[in-house]
Amino acid sequence: MEPVVLRTERLVLSVPTDDDIDTIVELCQDELMLDTLASLPWPYTRADAEFFVREVVAAGWEHGLGLGTVWGMREREGGPLLGTVGWNAERAEIGYWMGAPSRGRGYMTEAVRAVCAWVFAELGVERIGWEAVAGNAASARVARAAGFRYDGEGPSNIAFRDGSHPHSRHGHLLATDDGAPKPGWPL
Ligand SMILES: CC(C)(COP(=O)(O)OP(=O)(O)OC[C@H]1O[C@@H](n2cnc3c(N)ncnc32)[C@H](O)[C@@H]1OP(=O)(O)O)[C@@H](O)C(=O)NCCC(=O)NCCS
Repeated sequence: MEPVVLRTERLVLSVPTDDDIDTIVELCQDELMLDTLASLPWPYTRADAEFFVREVVAAGWEHGLGLGTVWGMREREGGPLLGTVGWNAERAEIGYWMGAPSRGRGYMTEAVRAVCAWVFAELGVERIGWEAVAGNAASARVARAAGFRYDGEGPSNIAFRDGSHPHSRHGHLLATDDGAPKPGWPL
């Protein structure tokens, strides 16, 4: 599939390119990423960002493989990348990170809403999963704000880079859901 551009009230979501590699390297030095993103290599190097953009993201759009369809978030067309959000087709889950300078503005919630709407409408998907380590309140708040239902706690489905499955929160959004925040989240 050709990469798709999505537009929200404040954001342009477009495929990460070579021009974003330096920014991705810089933003992914944040140790919060180490504890929250299961598959992020650590230490995170320029080679990791090149592999992400040129192999992972490219294959995701072309074949729907691996991380699936990944977007970079920008405040304007061609502007610097602030974070990424992606539909992981293999895991049937949404995943995201936002660089530290751009957190807390509701951007991620806005982007997640747009991506979920696209996945439901364009891919015919009926259920989008979500999980985050139990202490990751910020991620859970994004999922709650975007209308995900809370399914409870248990080991993560995905193995972290050390092979562990840390205690995590799980949730999901259905194509038939209305996107309004649902009760039951322990936040
Ligand atoms: C999770 C993450 C993407 C949130 O990004 P963000 O841009 O701050 O998200 P938003 O601005 O849309 O905020 C959404 C909610 O999170 C809350 N929030 C933001 N940072 C928070 C923090 N450090 N602690 C608790 N809540 C936080 C906001 O107040 C908001 O809550 P509300 O809707 O109840 O008011 C960002 O913190 C991040 O990239 N963390 C590291 C990577 C990560 O955890 N990815 C997800 C893995 S499952």
